[in-house]
Amino acid sequence: MRTLDELDVENRRVLLRADLNVPLQSDEGTVNVADDTRIRAALETIEQLRARHARIVLLSHLGRPHGRDPALSMRPVAERLSELLGCSVGLAPAVVGDEVKALSERLGDGEILLLENVRYEPGETDNDPELARRLAELADVYVNDAFGTAHRAHASTEGVAHLLPCAAGLLMEREVLTLTAVTENPARPLVAVLGGAKVTDKIALVERFLDIADSLLIGGAMSLPFLAAQGHATGLSLCSPDDVQAARRTLERASAAGRELELPEDLIVAPQLSAEAPWHDSEGPDVPGSWLAADIGPRTAARFARVIAGAGTVFWNGPMGVFECEPFAHATRTVAEAVAQTSGMSVVGGGETVAAVRQLGLAAEIDHLSTGGGATLKLLQGGLLPAVQALSVDASAAPRHARQTSAPAGAPGASA
Ligand code: 3PG
Repeated sequence: MRTLDELDVENRRVLLRADLNVPLQSDEGTVNVADDTRIRAALETIEQLRARHARIVLLSHLGRPHGRDPALSMRPVAERLSELLGCSVGLAPAVVGDEVKALSERLGDGEILLLENVRYEPGETDNDPELARRLAELADVYVNDAFGTAHRAHASTEGVAHLLPCAAGLLMEREVLTLTAVTENPARPLVAVLGGAKVTDKIALVERFLDIADSLLIGGAMSLPFLAAQGHATGLSLCSPDDVQAARRTLERASAAGRELELPEDLIVAPQLSAEAPWHDSEGPDVPGSWLAADIGPRTAARFARVIAGAGTVFWNGPMGVFECEPFAHATRTVAEAVAQTSGMSVVGGGETVAAVRQLGLAAEIDHLSTGGGATLKLLQGGLLPAVQALSVDASAAPRHARQTSAPAGAPGASA
């Protein structure tokens, strides 16, 4: 990956792709940003570009709009960004086109123009070369800082990287280096703590950590298919046959390789997942008939915390229980505190898990809070991120006409 310090940005227009895909909330008819974590994460690169007198054409997707949905306009993001930077961030009326091009040409050094939601353009998710070309027309160089979207080969993340001199932004660089170090060069012992809901979505991650981690701790709803596969009762907990089958295969693989997954030995169970519901500690890994598992139990949480305390590196993804409901937040809090206190390197990924860490006021104690969801999981699983691969391509070496008529993104010679 080329890095930002290798790119000449002085007095040049920089097309900066960030992941400003933030949750919104509506307050008496006004739409605001509900959580600005991703906007804050983009500030470092924006500030460095401004300090280097770049003219910034900023763009991102927001949600998954069908057409030009006004509810998913970038306006609230432009407003929040202006507040955080203490300067005005202009909002373009569209993503591409003559008016947007004229606005980009009028930018002064250090000024920022935010384009409208790039997914308003149908060619974005299709990685349409024509949209990539029209985006490239808006700038002299391209910087991709959108780590959260790096697993998508879209026009603004992959296609356009082949058409302009390009580099990774500071956030992108830090995310890729840190997450790669977790799997390729971790300080030992490496402890992986996985939780959350759907086991089938994360089975590749479980298998990857089964191969490389010294301890693999499984909690949250994800542990139930594993318990079911071991013959335990799971009551009314959501546990599809597909999940149980996937868990059974992984347990068989683990046993053939002489490796172990650490599963809950006790659970907090309740007849329903609400704060008012009665609950108790099952004192074993079985859920009674018409009850649900709401959290892992205190003995399991304490055991997980002891393993985490001895970690050289710990990676945590997925809450241990329904932490939004106070009676079921105990294990997630115990694990979060252990991750925050370990003297080893601590890395947390996934929107819900990062939100839990923030809610508990522990964000500053964690070495790296990843801004990615799917991108983080894919990278840790050993998958290639197309937007990152595109940044290693020396598009600047290509003659301008060749860049504009390049082969489809990713095709051999597309970058030559
Ligand atoms: C995310 O929130 O994970 C990224 O912004 C990617 O969004 P997407 O899943 O809609 O592509």
